[in-house]
Amino acid sequence: RIPVKVLGIETSCDETGVAVYDTAAGLRAHAVYSQIELHAQYGGVVPELASRDHVRKLLPLIRQTLAEAGLETAGIDGVAYTAGPGLVGALLVGAGVARALAWALDVPAIGVHHMEGHLLAPLLEDDPARGRPEPPFVALLVSGGHTQLVHVAAIGRYRLLGETLDDAAGEAFDKTAKLMGLPYPGGPQLAALAERGRPGAFRFARPMTDRPGLDFSFSGLKTQVLLAWQGSDRGEQTRADIARGFEDAVVETLAIKCERALDAAGCETLVVAGGVGANKRLRARLEDMAHRRGGRVSFPRPAFCTDNGAMIAFAGALRLQAGQHDTAAVRVTPRWDM
Ligand code: KG4
Ligand code: ZN
Repeated sequence: RIPVKVLGIETSCDETGVAVYDTAAGLRAHAVYSQIELHAQYGGVVPELASRDHVRKLLPLIRQTLAEAGLETAGIDGVAYTAGPGLVGALLVGAGVARALAWALDVPAIGVHHMEGHLLAPLLEDDPARGRPEPPFVALLVSGGHTQLVHVAAIGRYRLLGETLDDAAGEAFDKTAKLMGLPYPGGPQLAALAERGRPGAFRFARPMTDRPGLDFSFSGLKTQVLLAWQGSDRGEQTRADIARGFEDAVVETLAIKCERALDAAGCETLVVAGGVGANKRLRARLEDMAHRRGGRVSFPRPAFCTDNGAMIAFAGALRLQAGQHDTAAVRVTPRWDM
């Protein structure tokens, strides 16, 4: 295959991500600008503000990333961007810039599925000890918008094994954090608080683990936490204890279903991606499981678990090498099954 250098652009939500991936040399440069502070005062992402901030940050970030990669735009063989799913206005900023740049440079533009980007992120960097994980494997995608188990027979060949019937795992973290008064974005804050919590002080259900199947449901957990919180002294230690109980319930539920999915698919390799993949306790629990089974689990580094341009550049480079790219029409897909 001819080596390619691809510029990747991610603007599906509240992170502006840009990166250059080179199939011969690996990741050349990457940068993420997070809009967290902008949205924190509203307690969640405000779509119109997100779009406007992408407009402000994207071009400077592209210049900075190309400079870090030691490249001029002329050295780029393709421009990949997140075409969906995500916030439509935010997606259009990335798509518009990517398509215009590709047109001006006379190189292909490649619209990438955001979740395929997450799914391939564990393959982005070489693991010196074990090499990159190779399909077939099972992928656990756990972000703010999705919780899915996917069987990956080969790159581009995906089969959904199970998914959440209501809240995504990250959404459950965020909503639970909010109801205990933690600031947005709650997931990482709740995880940090749980570190000070005592294991077993509060025990919450492991939803849907008592019956067969690979689907998830996290919305009931949030209600359990609400009742526990309201019935408590609402002190600092109690909040940490509840956070710990909640985190343990989510981690245990995800681990049980991952093991089941590996059994069902006859695989021994698990990859984990999406924002919740940055969770330390989840990482440790899945490492234990893989060790016990004699299998393997791979995670991207935490910065590539959450939204970033590197995963989009990487997914775009693989697609470009496989001869796939966009036609002339500019199109984004806010709701899109992989
Ligand atoms: O993948 P991502 O950056 O954006 C989406 O595509 O959704 O995931 C963000 C989600 C948020 O819900 C956030 O609270 C959660 O990932 N998250 C975490 C942690 N870091 C991020 N949840 C639990 N523990 C963490 N350390
Ligand atoms: Zn994401």
